[in-house]
Amino acid sequence: MADSVKSSKLWGGRFASDIDDLALAYSESTLADSRMIAEDIWGSEAHALMLGATGIIPEADLREILRWLEKAREEFEAGRLKLKPELEDVHMNVEWYLRQGAGPEMGGRLHTARSRNDQVVTDCRLHLRTRLLNAVELIAALQEVLLSIAGAHLDHVMPGYTHTQHAQPISVGFWLSGHAAALERDGQRLQEVFDRVNLCPLGACALAGTSLPTNRRLTAQLLGFDGLVEHALDAVQSRDFVLETLAALAILAADLSRIAEEIVLFSTYEYGLIELDDAFASGSSIMPQKKNPCMAELARSRTGLVYGRLVQALTMMKALPSGYNRDIQEDKPPLWEALDSLEATLRVIAGMIGTARLKLDRMAELPSANFATATELANWLVREHGLPFRTAHEIVGEVVGSLSREGKNFTDLERTRELLAQHDVETTRDMLSELLDPAACMRRHTSEGGTAPEQVARQITRLRSGMEQLRKWAAQRAQAIEDARELTSRLVQSVLEGTPLANTGLPEV
Ligand code: ARG
Repeated sequence: MADSVKSSKLWGGRFASDIDDLALAYSESTLADSRMIAEDIWGSEAHALMLGATGIIPEADLREILRWLEKAREEFEAGRLKLKPELEDVHMNVEWYLRQGAGPEMGGRLHTARSRNDQVVTDCRLHLRTRLLNAVELIAALQEVLLSIAGAHLDHVMPGYTHTQHAQPISVGFWLSGHAAALERDGQRLQEVFDRVNLCPLGACALAGTSLPTNRRLTAQLLGFDGLVEHALDAVQSRDFVLETLAALAILAADLSRIAEEIVLFSTYEYGLIELDDAFASGSSIMPQKKNPCMAELARSRTGLVYGRLVQALTMMKALPSGYNRDIQEDKPPLWEALDSLEATLRVIAGMIGTARLKLDRMAELPSANFATATELANWLVREHGLPFRTAHEIVGEVVGSLSREGKNFTDLERTRELLAQHDVETTRDMLSELLDPAACMRRHTSEGGTAPEQVARQITRLRSGMEQLRKWAAQRAQAIEDARELTSRLVQSVLEGTPLANTGLPEV
Protein backbone atom coordinates (compact mmCIF):
# COMPACT_ATOMS: atom_id res chain seq x y z
CA MET A 1 0.00 0.00 0.00
CA ALA A 2 1.36 3.41 -0.93
CA ASP A 3 2.27 5.20 2.28
CA SER A 4 0.78 8.54 1.17
CA VAL A 5 1.28 11.31 3.68
CA LYS A 6 -2.17 12.26 4.79
CA SER A 7 -3.93 8.92 4.57
CA SER A 8 -1.21 7.18 6.52
CA LYS A 9 -1.87 8.83 9.87
CA LEU A 10 0.01 6.88 12.44
CA TRP A 11 -3.11 6.35 14.47
CA GLY A 12 -5.09 5.55 11.31
CA GLY A 13 -6.56 2.21 12.44
CA ARG A 14 -9.52 3.62 14.25
CA PHE A 15 -10.38 6.29 11.70
CA ALA A 16 -12.53 5.85 8.65
CA SER A 17 -11.63 9.15 7.03
CA ASP A 18 -8.82 11.70 6.87
CA ILE A 19 -8.67 14.80 8.97
CA ASP A 20 -10.32 17.88 7.50
CA ASP A 21 -7.84 20.38 6.07
CA LEU A 22 -9.11 23.12 8.36
CA ALA A 23 -8.77 20.92 11.39
CA LEU A 24 -5.25 19.94 10.37
CA ALA A 25 -4.19 23.53 9.82
CA TYR A 26 -5.70 24.45 13.17
CA SER A 27 -3.89 21.75 15.08
CA GLU A 28 -0.54 21.15 13.44
CA SER A 29 2.48 22.43 15.37
CA THR A 30 5.35 22.11 12.90
CA LEU A 31 6.43 25.75 13.12
CA ALA A 32 7.15 25.68 16.86
CA ASP A 33 8.32 22.06 16.59
CA SER A 34 10.93 22.91 13.96
CA ARG A 35 13.11 24.15 16.84
CA MET A 36 13.23 20.63 18.23
CA ILE A 37 14.15 18.44 15.25
CA ALA A 38 17.67 17.63 16.44
CA GLU A 39 16.28 16.92 19.91
CA ASP A 40 13.55 14.65 18.55
CA ILE A 41 16.11 12.60 16.65
CA TRP A 42 18.49 12.41 19.62
CA GLY A 43 15.61 11.43 21.90
CA SER A 44 14.57 8.73 19.41
CA GLU A 45 18.10 7.34 19.19
CA ALA A 46 18.44 7.20 22.98
CA HIS A 47 15.03 5.56 23.24
CA ALA A 48 15.91 3.00 20.54
CA LEU A 49 19.21 2.16 22.28
CA MET A 50 17.30 1.63 25.52
CA LEU A 51 14.77 -0.61 23.75
CA GLY A 52 17.67 -2.63 22.34
CA ALA A 53 19.52 -2.77 25.67
CA THR A 54 16.47 -4.06 27.50
CA GLY A 55 15.73 -6.63 24.80
CA ILE A 56 12.39 -5.00 23.97
CA ILE A 57 13.42 -4.83 20.31
CA PRO A 58 15.87 -7.14 18.52
CA GLU A 59 19.35 -5.77 17.77
CA ALA A 60 18.86 -6.17 14.03
CA ASP A 61 15.85 -3.88 14.22
CA LEU A 62 17.74 -1.47 16.41
CA ARG A 63 20.44 -1.23 13.77
CA GLU A 64 17.92 -0.54 11.03
CA ILE A 65 16.15 2.08 13.12
CA LEU A 66 19.41 3.83 14.03
CA ARG A 67 20.59 3.76 10.42
CA TRP A 68 17.55 5.75 9.35
CA LEU A 69 17.57 8.07 12.33
CA GLU A 70 21.18 8.92 11.49
CA LYS A 71 20.15 9.64 7.92
CA ALA A 72 17.40 11.90 9.23
CA ARG A 73 19.98 13.72 11.35
CA GLU A 74 22.30 14.17 8.38
CA GLU A 75 19.41 15.48 6.27
CA PHE A 76 18.49 17.86 9.06
CA GLU A 77 22.05 19.09 9.50
CA ALA A 78 22.30 19.66 5.75
CA GLY A 79 19.16 21.78 6.00
CA ARG A 80 17.12 19.34 3.96
CA LEU A 81 14.73 17.93 6.54
CA LYS A 82 11.73 20.23 6.45
CA LEU A 83 8.75 19.35 8.59
CA LYS A 84 5.59 18.58 6.66
CA PRO A 85 2.61 20.33 8.26
CA GLU A 86 0.33 17.56 7.04
CA LEU A 87 2.20 15.23 9.40
CA GLU A 88 1.13 17.40 12.31
CA ASP A 89 4.25 17.57 14.45
CA VAL A 90 7.96 16.84 14.68
CA HIS A 91 7.46 13.37 16.13
CA MET A 92 5.26 12.23 13.27
CA ASN A 93 7.68 13.73 10.77
CA VAL A 94 10.69 11.90 12.15
CA GLU A 95 8.72 8.67 12.38
CA TRP A 96 7.47 9.19 8.85
CA TYR A 97 11.06 9.58 7.65
CA LEU A 98 11.93 6.30 9.35
CA ARG A 99 8.92 4.51 7.86
CA GLN A 100 9.76 5.78 4.41
CA GLY A 101 13.31 4.47 4.70
CA ALA A 102 13.15 1.41 6.89
CA GLY A 103 9.54 0.43 6.28
CA PRO A 104 6.45 0.89 8.41
CA GLU A 105 7.39 -1.92 10.73
CA MET A 106 10.56 -0.21 11.98
CA GLY A 107 8.73 3.04 12.52
CA GLY A 108 6.25 1.08 14.55
CA ARG A 109 8.91 -0.64 16.63
CA LEU A 110 10.57 2.63 17.60
CA HIS A 111 7.33 3.84 19.10
CA THR A 112 7.26 0.97 21.60
CA ALA A 113 7.00 2.12 25.22
CA ARG A 114 6.75 5.78 24.40
CA SER A 115 4.06 8.22 23.46
CA ARG A 116 4.07 11.63 21.87
CA ASN A 117 3.03 12.84 25.29
CA ASP A 118 6.36 12.00 26.91
CA GLN A 119 8.24 12.64 23.68
CA VAL A 120 7.11 16.23 23.23
CA VAL A 121 7.94 17.30 26.74
CA THR A 122 11.32 15.57 26.46
CA ASP A 123 12.13 17.45 23.25
CA CYS A 124 11.00 20.68 24.83
CA ARG A 125 13.18 20.23 27.92
CA LEU A 126 16.17 19.24 25.75
CA HIS A 127 15.84 22.35 23.63
CA LEU A 128 15.00 24.66 26.49
CA ARG A 129 18.01 23.71 28.61
CA THR A 130 20.38 24.81 25.84
CA ARG A 131 18.46 28.05 25.38
CA LEU A 132 18.70 28.72 29.11
CA LEU A 133 22.47 28.32 28.98
CA ASN A 134 22.59 30.69 26.04
CA ALA A 135 20.49 33.26 27.88
CA VAL A 136 22.78 33.03 30.92
CA GLU A 137 25.80 33.65 28.69
CA LEU A 138 24.12 36.70 27.16
CA ILE A 139 23.28 38.05 30.61
CA ALA A 140 26.93 37.66 31.59
CA ALA A 141 28.00 39.42 28.39
CA LEU A 142 25.79 42.41 29.22
CA GLN A 143 27.13 42.43 32.78
CA GLU A 144 30.64 42.49 31.36
CA VAL A 145 29.85 45.60 29.28
CA LEU A 146 28.25 47.35 32.26
CA LEU A 147 31.03 46.45 34.65
CA SER A 148 33.87 47.42 32.37
CA ILE A 149 32.38 50.87 31.79
CA ALA A 150 31.54 51.11 35.50
CA GLY A 151 35.15 50.29 36.44
CA ALA A 152 36.43 53.14 34.31
CA HIS A 153 34.16 55.70 35.99
CA LEU A 154 34.48 55.24 39.73
CA ASP A 155 35.39 58.91 40.22
CA HIS A 156 32.98 60.47 37.76
CA VAL A 157 30.01 61.98 39.49
CA MET A 158 26.43 62.21 38.23
CA PRO A 159 23.05 62.85 39.83
CA GLY A 160 21.45 59.88 41.53
CA TYR A 161 17.67 60.05 41.26
CA THR A 162 14.64 59.20 43.32
CA HIS A 163 11.19 59.98 41.89
CA THR A 164 13.15 60.98 38.75
CA GLN A 165 14.30 64.05 40.76
CA HIS A 166 17.86 64.80 41.76
CA ALA A 167 18.51 62.98 45.02
CA GLN A 168 22.22 62.58 45.87
CA PRO A 169 25.46 62.54 43.90
CA ILE A 170 26.58 59.08 42.83
CA SER A 171 29.31 57.83 40.54
CA VAL A 172 28.73 56.67 37.00
CA GLY A 173 30.28 53.37 38.05
CA PHE A 174 27.75 53.05 40.86
CA TRP A 175 24.83 53.65 38.49
CA LEU A 176 25.95 51.07 35.93
CA SER A 177 27.04 48.43 38.42
CA GLY A 178 23.59 48.68 40.01
CA HIS A 179 22.11 47.25 36.81
CA ALA A 180 24.79 44.56 36.71
CA ALA A 181 23.81 43.53 40.25
CA ALA A 182 20.18 42.95 39.21
CA LEU A 183 21.34 41.00 36.17
CA GLU A 184 23.34 38.70 38.43
CA ARG A 185 20.11 37.57 40.09
CA ASP A 186 18.46 37.18 36.68
CA GLY A 187 21.25 34.82 35.71
CA GLN A 188 20.97 32.93 38.99
CA ARG A 189 17.22 32.55 38.57
CA LEU A 190 17.72 30.90 35.18
CA GLN A 191 20.43 28.73 36.71
CA GLU A 192 17.98 27.50 39.34
CA VAL A 193 15.28 26.93 36.73
CA PHE A 194 17.78 24.89 34.71
CA ASP A 195 18.02 22.30 37.48
CA ARG A 196 14.30 21.62 37.27
CA VAL A 197 14.25 21.70 33.46
CA ASN A 198 17.09 19.23 33.04
CA LEU A 199 15.11 16.14 34.09
CA CYS A 200 13.86 13.37 31.84
CA PRO A 201 10.16 12.65 31.36
CA LEU A 202 10.76 10.05 28.64
CA GLY A 203 9.48 6.61 29.54
CA ALA A 204 6.40 8.01 31.25
CA CYS A 205 4.67 6.93 28.01
CA ALA A 206 1.11 8.18 27.58
CA LEU A 207 0.50 8.72 31.30
CA ALA A 208 0.88 5.53 33.31
CA GLY A 209 4.31 4.13 32.53
CA THR A 210 4.39 0.78 30.77
CA SER A 211 4.24 -2.96 31.36
CA LEU A 212 7.32 -3.41 29.15
CA PRO A 213 10.71 -3.75 30.93
CA THR A 214 12.10 -0.30 30.10
CA ASN A 215 15.10 1.38 31.71
CA ARG A 216 14.26 5.05 32.08
CA ARG A 217 17.54 5.93 33.75
CA LEU A 218 19.51 4.68 30.79
CA THR A 219 17.56 6.91 28.40
CA ALA A 220 17.96 9.85 30.78
CA GLN A 221 21.70 9.34 30.93
CA LEU A 222 22.08 9.09 27.17
CA LEU A 223 20.27 12.42 26.90
CA GLY A 224 22.45 14.12 29.52
CA PHE A 225 19.61 14.69 31.96
CA ASP A 226 20.43 14.97 35.67
CA GLY A 227 17.62 12.60 36.63
CA LEU A 228 14.00 11.73 35.96
CA VAL A 229 10.70 13.49 36.23
CA GLU A 230 9.81 10.28 37.92
CA HIS A 231 6.05 10.27 38.40
CA ALA A 232 4.72 9.30 34.98
CA LEU A 233 1.45 11.20 35.19
CA ASP A 234 3.22 14.29 36.49
CA ALA A 235 5.90 13.95 33.81
CA VAL A 236 3.44 14.24 30.91
CA GLN A 237 0.98 16.72 32.35
CA SER A 238 3.13 19.29 34.15
CA ARG A 239 4.40 22.46 32.56
CA ASP A 240 5.50 24.35 35.62
CA PHE A 241 9.04 24.30 34.20
CA VAL A 242 7.66 26.38 31.32
CA LEU A 243 5.90 28.72 33.71
CA GLU A 244 8.92 29.26 35.92
CA THR A 245 11.14 29.81 32.90
CA LEU A 246 8.73 32.44 31.61
CA ALA A 247 8.42 34.00 35.07
CA ALA A 248 12.20 34.29 35.35
CA LEU A 249 12.31 35.70 31.82
CA ALA A 250 9.58 38.21 32.67
CA ILE A 251 11.66 39.48 35.60
CA LEU A 252 14.69 39.70 33.34
CA ALA A 253 12.58 41.64 30.83
CA ALA A 254 11.51 44.03 33.60
CA ASP A 255 15.14 44.64 34.54
CA LEU A 256 16.12 45.24 30.92
CA SER A 257 13.19 47.61 30.42
CA ARG A 258 14.52 49.77 33.24
CA ILE A 259 17.89 50.04 31.52
CA ALA A 260 16.11 50.79 28.23
CA GLU A 261 14.00 53.49 29.87
CA GLU A 262 17.09 55.20 31.26
CA ILE A 263 18.74 55.11 27.85
CA VAL A 264 15.67 56.84 26.39
CA LEU A 265 15.56 59.46 29.16
CA PHE A 266 19.28 60.07 29.49
CA SER A 267 19.73 60.59 25.75
CA THR A 268 17.14 63.41 25.64
CA TYR A 269 18.32 67.01 25.25
CA GLU A 270 16.77 67.72 28.64
CA TYR A 271 18.88 65.17 30.49
CA GLY A 272 21.79 65.18 28.05
CA LEU A 273 23.70 62.53 30.00
CA ILE A 274 24.50 60.13 27.16
CA GLU A 275 24.64 60.14 23.40
CA LEU A 276 23.94 56.95 21.50
CA ASP A 277 26.27 55.83 18.77
CA ASP A 278 24.85 56.30 15.28
CA ALA A 279 24.95 52.52 14.83
CA PHE A 280 22.41 52.07 17.62
CA ALA A 281 20.06 54.96 16.86
CA SER A 282 17.81 55.86 13.97
CA GLY A 283 16.67 58.99 12.19
CA SER A 284 13.43 60.59 11.13
CA SER A 285 12.17 60.59 7.58
CA ILE A 286 10.89 64.16 7.94
CA MET A 287 12.90 65.89 10.70
CA PRO A 288 16.52 65.94 9.61
CA GLN A 289 17.88 66.75 13.06
CA LYS A 290 16.44 63.71 14.84
CA LYS A 291 18.46 60.95 16.42
CA ASN A 292 15.99 58.59 18.00
CA PRO A 293 16.72 55.91 20.62
CA CYS A 294 14.54 53.40 18.75
CA MET A 295 16.39 50.27 19.94
CA ALA A 296 15.88 51.29 23.56
CA GLU A 297 12.22 52.08 22.90
CA LEU A 298 11.70 48.70 21.24
CA ALA A 299 13.48 46.94 24.09
CA ARG A 300 11.13 48.75 26.48
CA SER A 301 8.13 47.76 24.42
CA ARG A 302 9.06 44.09 23.99
CA THR A 303 8.81 43.66 27.72
CA GLY A 304 5.10 43.40 26.96
CA LEU A 305 5.73 40.48 24.64
CA VAL A 306 7.50 38.55 27.41
CA TYR A 307 4.89 39.38 30.09
CA GLY A 308 2.20 38.40 27.59
CA ARG A 309 3.79 35.03 26.94
CA LEU A 310 3.92 34.35 30.68
CA VAL A 311 0.26 35.21 31.14
CA GLN A 312 -0.60 33.15 28.05
CA ALA A 313 1.17 30.09 29.46
CA LEU A 314 -0.28 30.54 32.94
CA THR A 315 -3.75 30.76 31.46
CA MET A 316 -3.13 27.71 29.29
CA MET A 317 -2.36 25.68 32.42
CA LYS A 318 -5.19 27.00 34.52
CA ALA A 319 -7.68 24.34 35.63
CA LEU A 320 -6.43 21.64 33.26
CA PRO A 321 -7.55 18.23 34.42
CA SER A 322 -5.06 15.40 34.94
CA GLY A 323 -3.25 13.78 32.05
CA TYR A 324 -2.03 15.15 28.75
CA ASN A 325 -4.42 17.69 27.24
CA ARG A 326 -3.89 19.07 23.79
CA ASP A 327 -4.04 22.55 25.29
CA ILE A 328 -0.44 22.15 26.38
CA GLN A 329 0.80 21.89 22.83
CA GLU A 330 0.54 25.68 23.07
CA ASP A 331 3.40 25.90 25.57
CA LYS A 332 6.15 26.10 22.99
CA PRO A 333 5.36 29.20 20.90
CA PRO A 334 5.32 31.52 23.94
CA LEU A 335 8.47 29.91 25.28
CA TRP A 336 10.45 30.25 22.05
CA GLU A 337 9.11 33.75 21.35
CA ALA A 338 10.03 35.02 24.81
CA LEU A 339 13.52 33.51 24.52
CA ASP A 340 14.05 34.84 20.99
CA SER A 341 12.95 38.29 22.03
CA LEU A 342 15.12 38.43 25.15
CA GLU A 343 18.21 37.06 23.46
CA ALA A 344 17.95 39.83 20.88
CA THR A 345 17.24 42.46 23.51
CA LEU A 346 20.23 41.41 25.63
CA ARG A 347 22.49 41.70 22.58
CA VAL A 348 21.09 45.06 21.47
CA ILE A 349 21.30 46.63 24.91
CA ALA A 350 24.88 45.44 25.31
CA GLY A 351 25.74 46.95 21.92
CA MET A 352 23.93 50.19 22.68
CA ILE A 353 25.57 50.72 26.08
CA GLY A 354 28.98 49.55 24.91
CA THR A 355 29.05 52.20 22.18
CA ALA A 356 27.23 55.10 23.88
CA ARG A 357 29.15 58.28 24.73
CA LEU A 358 28.85 59.36 28.35
CA LYS A 359 28.62 63.14 28.67
CA LEU A 360 30.73 63.32 31.80
CA ASP A 361 30.86 67.13 32.04
CA ARG A 362 27.11 67.43 31.98
CA MET A 363 26.80 64.59 34.50
CA ALA A 364 29.24 66.33 36.83
CA GLU A 365 27.64 69.77 36.68
CA LEU A 366 24.06 68.69 37.41
CA PRO A 367 24.39 67.66 41.07
CA SER A 368 25.69 71.13 42.07
CA ALA A 369 22.86 72.88 40.29
CA ASN A 370 20.01 71.38 42.21
CA PHE A 371 20.87 70.80 45.88
CA ALA A 372 21.89 67.14 45.46
CA THR A 373 24.24 67.55 48.45
CA ALA A 374 21.51 68.74 50.86
CA THR A 375 21.48 65.42 52.73
CA GLU A 376 25.23 65.71 53.16
CA LEU A 377 24.81 69.14 54.75
CA ALA A 378 22.27 67.64 57.17
CA ASN A 379 24.65 64.74 57.91
CA TRP A 380 27.38 67.29 58.68
CA LEU A 381 25.10 69.02 61.21
CA VAL A 382 24.56 65.64 62.84
CA ARG A 383 28.27 64.78 62.74
CA GLU A 384 29.82 68.11 63.70
CA HIS A 385 27.09 69.86 65.67
CA GLY A 386 25.49 66.89 67.36
CA LEU A 387 22.00 67.80 66.14
CA PRO A 388 19.23 65.21 65.87
CA PHE A 389 18.79 64.35 62.19
CA ARG A 390 15.22 65.70 62.09
CA THR A 391 16.42 69.13 63.35
CA ALA A 392 19.26 69.11 60.82
CA HIS A 393 16.77 68.18 58.09
CA GLU A 394 14.56 71.12 59.11
CA ILE A 395 17.42 73.64 59.06
CA VAL A 396 18.75 72.49 55.68
CA GLY A 397 15.21 72.45 54.30
CA GLU A 398 14.81 76.10 55.29
CA VAL A 399 18.19 77.02 53.77
CA VAL A 400 17.27 75.25 50.51
CA GLY A 401 13.84 76.93 50.53
CA SER A 402 15.36 80.39 50.91
CA LEU A 403 18.07 79.81 48.29
CA SER A 404 15.62 78.50 45.73
CA ARG A 405 13.19 81.38 46.32
CA GLU A 406 16.15 83.69 45.66
CA GLY A 407 16.99 81.76 42.49
CA LYS A 408 20.26 80.56 44.02
CA ASN A 409 21.79 77.21 44.93
CA PHE A 410 24.66 75.81 47.03
CA THR A 411 27.23 77.21 44.60
CA ASP A 412 26.48 80.57 46.23
CA LEU A 413 28.65 79.68 49.22
CA GLU A 414 28.44 83.08 50.91
CA ARG A 415 24.64 83.13 50.90
CA THR A 416 24.52 79.53 52.08
CA ARG A 417 26.90 80.45 54.95
CA GLU A 418 24.70 83.42 55.93
CA LEU A 419 21.52 81.36 55.93
CA LEU A 420 23.15 78.73 58.14
CA ALA A 421 24.35 81.44 60.50
CA GLN A 422 20.72 82.53 60.92
CA HIS A 423 20.23 79.10 62.50
CA ASP A 424 23.28 79.59 64.74
CA VAL A 425 25.37 77.28 62.58
CA GLU A 426 28.78 78.90 62.13
CA THR A 427 30.95 77.73 59.25
CA THR A 428 33.29 79.03 56.56
CA ARG A 429 33.04 79.22 52.81
CA ASP A 430 36.03 76.88 52.46
CA MET A 431 34.39 74.37 54.69
CA LEU A 432 31.13 74.58 52.70
CA SER A 433 32.98 74.37 49.43
CA GLU A 434 34.49 71.02 50.44
CA LEU A 435 31.29 69.76 52.09
CA LEU A 436 28.94 70.61 49.21
CA ASP A 437 31.19 69.52 46.37
CA PRO A 438 29.27 66.64 44.76
CA ALA A 439 32.33 64.55 43.89
CA ALA A 440 33.77 64.91 47.40
CA CYS A 441 30.36 64.11 48.84
CA MET A 442 30.13 60.99 46.69
CA ARG A 443 33.60 59.90 47.84
CA ARG A 444 32.58 60.17 51.48
CA HIS A 445 29.75 57.61 51.05
CA THR A 446 31.96 54.80 52.19
CA SER A 447 29.35 52.69 54.00
CA GLU A 448 29.24 49.09 52.79
CA GLY A 449 27.67 49.02 49.32
CA GLY A 450 27.78 52.83 49.07
CA THR A 451 28.79 54.97 46.11
CA ALA A 452 32.37 55.79 47.24
CA PRO A 453 34.94 54.59 44.69
CA GLU A 454 36.50 51.93 46.93
CA GLN A 455 33.06 50.50 47.69
CA VAL A 456 32.04 50.43 44.04
CA ALA A 457 35.38 48.84 43.16
CA ARG A 458 34.63 46.14 45.73
CA GLN A 459 31.16 45.63 44.29
CA ILE A 460 32.57 45.37 40.79
CA THR A 461 35.07 42.74 41.91
CA ARG A 462 32.32 40.74 43.57
CA LEU A 463 29.99 41.08 40.58
CA ARG A 464 32.76 40.10 38.20
CA SER A 465 33.45 36.94 40.13
CA GLY A 466 29.71 36.13 40.14
CA MET A 467 29.65 36.73 36.41
CA GLU A 468 32.63 34.42 35.88
CA GLN A 469 30.92 31.76 38.00
CA LEU A 470 27.78 32.01 35.88
CA ARG A 471 29.86 31.71 32.73
CA LYS A 472 31.83 28.78 34.07
CA TRP A 473 28.65 27.02 35.14
CA ALA A 474 27.04 27.56 31.72
CA ALA A 475 30.15 26.29 29.95
CA GLN A 476 30.32 23.19 32.16
CA ARG A 477 26.66 22.41 31.64
CA ALA A 478 27.02 22.90 27.89
CA GLN A 479 29.99 20.53 27.92
CA ALA A 480 28.02 17.91 29.85
CA ILE A 481 25.27 18.12 27.22
CA GLU A 482 27.85 17.79 24.47
CA ASP A 483 29.41 14.78 26.22
CA ALA A 484 26.03 13.04 26.40
CA ARG A 485 25.41 13.78 22.74
CA GLU A 486 28.78 12.31 21.86
CA LEU A 487 28.14 9.24 24.01
CA THR A 488 24.86 8.59 22.20
CA SER A 489 26.50 9.14 18.86
CA ARG A 490 29.44 6.80 19.70
CA LEU A 491 27.01 4.08 20.71
CA VAL A 492 24.97 4.58 17.56
CA GLN A 493 28.11 4.34 15.40
CA SER A 494 29.22 1.12 17.16
CA VAL A 495 25.82 -0.47 16.59
CA LEU A 496 25.88 0.61 12.95
CA GLU A 497 29.34 -0.95 12.56
CA GLY A 498 27.83 -4.23 13.72
CA THR A 499 29.17 -4.28 17.29
CA PRO A 500 26.82 -6.25 19.54
CA LEU A 501 25.14 -3.83 21.94
CA ALA A 502 26.68 -5.59 24.95
CA ASN A 503 30.17 -4.71 23.64
CA THR A 504 29.53 -1.06 22.88
CA GLY A 505 30.30 0.22 26.36
CA LEU A 506 26.69 1.10 27.09
CA PRO A 507 26.58 2.69 30.55
CA GLU A 508 25.39 0.44 33.38
CA VAL A 509 22.37 2.06 35.01
N1 ARG B 1 2.15 18.07 19.14
C1 ARG B 1 1.80 17.62 20.44
C2 ARG B 1 2.23 18.64 21.50
O1 ARG B 1 3.02 19.49 21.19
C3 ARG B 1 2.48 16.32 20.71
C4 ARG B 1 1.72 15.45 21.64
C5 ARG B 1 0.47 15.04 21.01
N2 ARG B 1 -0.20 14.06 21.79
C6 ARG B 1 -1.45 13.73 21.54
N3 ARG B 1 -1.97 12.84 22.28
N4 ARG B 1 -2.12 14.30 20.57
O2 ARG B 1 1.79 18.61 22.62
